[in-house]
Amino acid sequence: MKIDILTIFPQMFEGPLTCSLIEKARHKKILDINCTDIRSFSKDKHRTVDDRPFGGGPGMLLKPEPIYDALHHLGVRKKNHLYKKPYKKPYVIYMSPQGNLLNSKKVKDLSKYEHLVILCGHYEGVDERVISWIDEEISIGDYVLTGGEIPAMVLIDSVARMLPGVVKDKNSVEQDSFYNGYLDYPHYTRPAKFKNMKVPEVLLSGNHFEIEKWRKEQSVERTKRRRPDLLKAKAVK
Ligand SMILES: C[S@@+](CC[C@H](N)C(=O)[O-])C[C@H]1O[C@@H](n2cnc3c(N)ncnc32)[C@H](O)[C@@H]1O
Repeated sequence: MKIDILTIFPQMFEGPLTCSLIEKARHKKILDINCTDIRSFSKDKHRTVDDRPFGGGPGMLLKPEPIYDALHHLGVRKKNHLYKKPYKKPYVIYMSPQGNLLNSKKVKDLSKYEHLVILCGHYEGVDERVISWIDEEISIGDYVLTGGEIPAMVLIDSVARMLPGVVKDKNSVEQDSFYNGYLDYPHYTRPAKFKNMKVPEVLLSGNHFEIEKWRKEQSVERTKRRRPDLLKAKAVK
């Protein structure tokens, strides 16, 4: 999968994209991630990318021209009419608190695209005309961050985990919370006893049938207690 990030702070991505599983996925060429600095598409000598909002009010807005030029440079055309196959064209996302909520289903859907372009807003956001070049606005939750960079990192990390070969054991992704509509079961490792707290006996029994049964029960029980909304959503399907 190819991912292009459009940002005015490319340096913010240096840590998260150069560590752990994401770094390995890039090394294995499963992920090809590039950061484009919107500022390099500014045409004035001060490399301006923002301006005051028409009508007054607080804050600054990202201007449309450098974003348009940056998108054009990446091969994005309005409405992507040049691309026929649904998952082949670059799918253009704007990280926005007003967008569709990022959840497990959305992450799975996004992992099917071959090329994502992710625009990160900043300050008060972007000039509204930019939205006409966007396929989908995506939010990471009902709160506001200073910029779209951290939301973009959340999206990239969650989508990357869905790609074959990024997480070594596919079962580990599939048993994680939300994947099948349940929360994950509790996990324990050595020592079997620590500060008077014991690991549940069944996990030490070696009886795989009983262990599976216990895990399933724990997973359902936890979901009932912590996230009954997930079970209701499953029942509706
Ligand atoms: C301070 S916010 C702008 C908020 C905007 N004025 C509003 O109230 O909808 C600046 C940028 O951060 C990003 N952002 C902030 N919160 C976000 C969220 N919950 N999900 C995704 N992106 C977010 C967006 O890219 C946004 O353009």
